[in-house]
Amino acid sequence: MRSLKVAGLIAALVCRLTALEAAPDSENTKMRAIVIRAYGGPDVMKLENVARPEPAEDEVLIRVVAASMNPVDVAIRKGYFAKLVGGFPLIPGMDAAGVVEKVGNKVTKYKAGDPVFAFFTLEREGGYAEFVTAKEEQVAPKPKTASFAQAACAGAAGATAWEALVDTANLRAGQTVLIHGGSGGVGHLAIQIAKARGAKVFATASTANQEFLRQMGADVAIDYTRAKFEEVAKDVDVVLDTVGRDTLERSYGVVKRGGIIVSIVDEPKPAALEAHGIRGVTLRCTPKAGVLEELSKLMEAKKFTPVVSQSFQLADVVQAQSQIATGHTRGKIVLKITDEPVR
Ligand SMILES: NC(=O)c1ccc[n+]([C@@H]2O[C@H](COP(=O)([O-])OP(=O)(O)OC[C@H]3O[C@@H](n4cnc5c(N)ncnc54)[C@H](OP(=O)(O)O)[C@@H]3O)[C@@H](O)[C@H]2O)c1
Repeated sequence: MRSLKVAGLIAALVCRLTALEAAPDSENTKMRAIVIRAYGGPDVMKLENVARPEPAEDEVLIRVVAASMNPVDVAIRKGYFAKLVGGFPLIPGMDAAGVVEKVGNKVTKYKAGDPVFAFFTLEREGGYAEFVTAKEEQVAPKPKTASFAQAACAGAAGATAWEALVDTANLRAGQTVLIHGGSGGVGHLAIQIAKARGAKVFATASTANQEFLRQMGADVAIDYTRAKFEEVAKDVDVVLDTVGRDTLERSYGVVKRGGIIVSIVDEPKPAALEAHGIRGVTLRCTPKAGVLEELSKLMEAKKFTPVVSQSFQLADVVQAQSQIATGHTRGKIVLKITDEPVR
């Protein structure tokens, strides 16, 4: 047992990326960032000193305070999105929150000093860094009610939950939704959005997350390890599928005629949809300023609060990614880029 603990400690020390050579330079032209120069395992992520990006005329430069981790970060690092990402060197990270440092001359909505959060595209990520640029439409104001860490988590996961439930399914007051993976990054935010719209929410997660589902607002929490969701949730208007495969297969029958399944991980089968008289959509979420602004307003109104279950330093990116890779994260995990006590 003791030798196992020692081995674990050594592994953690070996994994911790060294930042010795990565201190900020005095002329403010460099930044610390996690850089990937080849696809592969966790060791392809290196903490380096690299040139700070400069904003184009329609972009803002953000001094990052916190970046969120998303499962897609792991897939990108392994090369599964090689055709979509912009090539090497690659700085990962789909979303971040921080303070505007500088703006391009066509930017009208933001100025230096504004607290913001952003959701980047697969083609150009970059949140795992001290600075990142974003187009104006990939940015929204960070509300005072949210910390930078919480706001960073609202980007990709929050926008996905919104685009699935609101823009795609048009979830309305009085309707019923079943949210698979309700304790995860997308799911716990989807529950909150669904409740804010006045829907009744069924949500699935494992035993350890049942209370968490209820805290997020689920009316009915379903333990997928002990019960079949299709025996609990029936005739729902909307299913949000964040799990796929067998979970999607078993979901067709729980949707009432005219209802919809939105999957963010799998493709609903046309024949099954037709047989049940329902619609099905596979959503790949992309940044839209209107959506981020809606999330900002919901956060301001305290109807939408991302839950940060774990926070890691930039140098501990390997441990952070190994957590997100489990597929069993509660809420969100973040990389803390700066220790500044900014809110
Ligand atoms: N298409 C898009 O635009 C888009 C956008 C964002 C995310 N995604 C994808 O959507 C998936 C979910 O993302 P995420 O950020 O929410 O992931 P996450 O933070 O890792 O959360 C996954 C959640 O799923 C739950 N879960 C695992 N197996 C389950 C099962 N059989 N039934 C019900 N719940 C189960 C886990 O809860 P327990 O620990 O309790 O099992 C966990 O809380 C990922 O594959 C991600 O890549 C796609």
